Amino acid sequence: MKNYLIAPSILSANFAKLGEDTQKVLNAGADVIHFDVMDNHYVPNLTMGPMFCKALRDYGIMAPIDVHLMVSPVDELIPTFAKAGASNISIHPEATLHLDRSLQLIKDHGCTAGIVLNPATPLNCLDYVLDKVDIILLMGVNPGFGGQSFIPHTLSKIKQVRERIDQIGRDIRLEIDGGVKVDNIAEIARAGANMFVAGSAIFGAPDYKTVIDAMRLQLAM
Ligand code: DX5
Ligand code: ZN
Repeated sequence: MKNYLIAPSILSANFAKLGEDTQKVLNAGADVIHFDVMDNHYVPNLTMGPMFCKALRDYGIMAPIDVHLMVSPVDELIPTFAKAGASNISIHPEATLHLDRSLQLIKDHGCTAGIVLNPATPLNCLDYVLDKVDIILLMGVNPGFGGQSFIPHTLSKIKQVRERIDQIGRDIRLEIDGGVKVDNIAEIARAGANMFVAGSAIFGAPDYKTVIDAMRLQLAM
């Protein structure tokens, strides 16, 4: 497995040219496509459903698609997104009554499974699910919108989760989403993260490759 993964969030892409823009960011060196699903209920925003994911696959997008479900209830969308071409599906514990069942549902549909913790969600949510997750995603902002600032206490949370992952010795990805930029990615990596979602930092720049290269340079230092 490659050590660091850069996952641009297409929430900040040009929705009127989604296929083209997604391919462009992959050509610029992205590893994974981060796909934010918001329902105007669990979070105060409304974005893309499974048809968009399928449309990207039909357009020819081959890269892993990392679906971040900010919806409640969540179970009904899991099989639908798996069929639509999701590679990983990550869910928030607050969005399901039966977290273990929802994680198992993701696995049963052939995807890897992630758990997402909001800035104020305690780490004990991980206690009984670590054997079922492939990704732990820590939010660096409150979910709902791109372009917010990274909440600094996330760094200590990353360190604590990194320790837990190292203790159990399973290959669990530690992904950070929200407020990731060229100037803080190195610090976030030093705290223990190895997968980085960036929306506005990449899609807000005129040249995606310049930003992704700059992020990789920071990660190499
Ligand atoms: C927020 C989303 C993020 C968001 C990140 O709810 O989950 O993926 O798009 O955007 P930036 O990188 O702009 O903070
Ligand atoms: Zn996200």
